[in-house]
Amino acid sequence: MVKLLNPALLAALVATATATPVAQSNDSTPTAGGGVSPTDPAAIKALQTALLLAPGYADRQSILLPNPPDASNITFQFINNTVTPNTGGTIALTTLNNFPALIGTNVAMAVGFVNPCGLNVPHNHPRANEFLTVISGKLIGGLILEQNPGSAGNVAGQPKPVNGPLQQVNATLDNFKGMLFPQGETHFQFNPTCEPALFAAAFDSSDPGRTQIARNFFSAYPDEEVLIAAVGGNLETLDPARIERFRKQIPTAFAVQIESCVKRCNIAHT
Ligand SMILES: *[C@@H]1O[C@H](CO)[C@@H](O)[C@H](O)[C@H]1NC(C)=O
Ligand SMILES: *[C@@H]1O[C@H](CO)[C@@H](O)[C@H](O)[C@H]1NC(C)=O
Ligand SMILES: *[C@@H]1O[C@H](CO)[C@@H](O)[C@H](O)[C@H]1NC(C)=O
Ligand SMILES: *[C@@H]1O[C@H](CO)[C@@H](O)[C@H](O)[C@H]1NC(C)=O
Repeated sequence: MVKLLNPALLAALVATATATPVAQSNDSTPTAGGGVSPTDPAAIKALQTALLLAPGYADRQSILLPNPPDASNITFQFINNTVTPNTGGTIALTTLNNFPALIGTNVAMAVGFVNPCGLNVPHNHPRANEFLTVISGKLIGGLILEQNPGSAGNVAGQPKPVNGPLQQVNATLDNFKGMLFPQGETHFQFNPTCEPALFAAAFDSSDPGRTQIARNFFSAYPDEEVLIAAVGGNLETLDPARIERFRKQIPTAFAVQIESCVKRCNIAHT
């Protein structure tokens, strides 16, 4: 939802929006054939500002589509984002950050290029449900169930906390099969094959967000003892020196490989 702005800020934004001419897109990427939403950051910013100030759809329409039949401001050119192994893959994501037309729509879209053995690391989207469909190749989709038995701690008269792994569901996704990943729930996909895979994923927020489970967890400070206590362990379970060593290597999103698969497919390890 668009937050209400105070009048002074509003006036400043109106001034910016009207004073900054929205540049036409200068699309020098070879795969994009022109006629697409602006790619220049200043033009994107100006369009976002104008759209955020527009009270209703009619206003947004006159901002986005002032020159019928030109649909450039509501088209987005995804690129073939294929990268060579041994990287895990890439995601091309449209959100209100790079495609202002999404402002006010509650949708976003991702196109994912998953290399052989690539893993889209366990993560969640804090503000969106995701519906992912595999277009070519094969992926395993995994979802950790939302379970927290005894989550209130040792409350008198209540069931005791139950430790241990939570249940997971998973599915093989190929031949245009789609899988739902509910908002905020931990999920991942990996490509168990030696061929690339391609997916498209829809989100019901134009600002879905993404947080990585491992990276989040291992970022907890003040020091490693927080992590050791959080896993119910001691200095033998998690060694602070080892945590410090791998903390900086935790991948951002999509660039690791499942080791056994890498061996099977004869891919040079990263
Ligand atoms: C578009 O940008 C490219 C690269 O910055 C530049 O070489 C080209 O002259 C620009 N084209 C137009 C029409 O502005
Ligand atoms: C895109 O929107 C901007 C802002 O209203 C406008 O100046 C521009 O002409 C639009 N582009 C097209 C191709 O209609
Ligand atoms: C995407 O690019 C890769 C690498 O250049 C190529 O092998 C693949 O065929 C392309 N895919 C499509 C759908 O164009
Ligand atoms: C699916 O999840 C179960 C645990 O619920 C696990 O044992 C199994 O290995 C998973 N399968 C794949 C292909 O990830």
